[in-house]
Amino acid sequence: MPILRERKELELIVWPENRQCDRSWLLENIPGAAGVIVLLSEQVNDELLDKAGPSLKVVSTMSVGYEHLFLPALAKRGIRVGYTPDILTDAGFGRIAQATLARLVPFGIRQCIYTGNPAASAFSGSSARDHALAASLSLPAGAISRVPLTDLAVRSDVLFVLAPGGPETYHTVDADFLRRMKSSAVLVNPSRGSLVDSDALARALREGWIWGAGLDVVEGEPRVGTDHPLVNEPRCVILPHIGSATFETRLGMATLAAKNVIGGVLGETMPTELDL
Ligand code: DGY
Repeated sequence: MPILRERKELELIVWPENRQCDRSWLLENIPGAAGVIVLLSEQVNDELLDKAGPSLKVVSTMSVGYEHLFLPALAKRGIRVGYTPDILTDAGFGRIAQATLARLVPFGIRQCIYTGNPAASAFSGSSARDHALAASLSLPAGAISRVPLTDLAVRSDVLFVLAPGGPETYHTVDADFLRRMKSSAVLVNPSRGSLVDSDALARALREGWIWGAGLDVVEGEPRVGTDHPLVNEPRCVILPHIGSATFETRLGMATLAAKNVIGGVLGETMPTELDL
């Protein structure tokens, strides 16, 4: 907020409550806005953009993910988009995956297999980058390697789902995938709920196809009721998408979101602009 408030040429309209912004408030206040900062819980679609009208120059999301932004609708209107990236989303095994592995190594993890977008590459094995990363984590040569998706299901003891959401990755972990996993395996999803078929996961846990699950994200969030199949599953631990909620991280994201919206409104460089 101080970053925004010091720009005296900007008029700020700020949701006054310490909870998720009401859609009706946003729709009421957005007409005529030049820029808007949103969280990933806000659908930026035709409804919102039509309400905003032609004055809207920039949408700045305080998130790495951007599947809540309807990019064709934004591109069609020539609206710039800022986000808070911390990953190479197309790499599969990108910066978040690498940072996760670095935190697991002290717990005794000695081998890491991962997969990537098959449309981008069908490579299997250890790349030069994998060798370098293994060396930097004091893991043996060949400890990190890329495998096809089905091998990942069959061989993993602990499987981390770390990929962007959206139609391309929808239900990557489905019933077929879960049935291939070890009955002792644990599934961890800190990325997007849409990657995992919730009903299939609840069944997998209930029927012992896998041993347990730890989820920071669930399909349908933020509205996940007490009747959700996974909420009622004793071998599933669910957090309300707070994996990035450290003070430092959120402050960094907020700072970037503020700088992006200012850049967009004033027609200047945005520190992290999404390429539409
Ligand atoms: C993001 O930024 O997309 C995370 O999922 C939440 O902070």
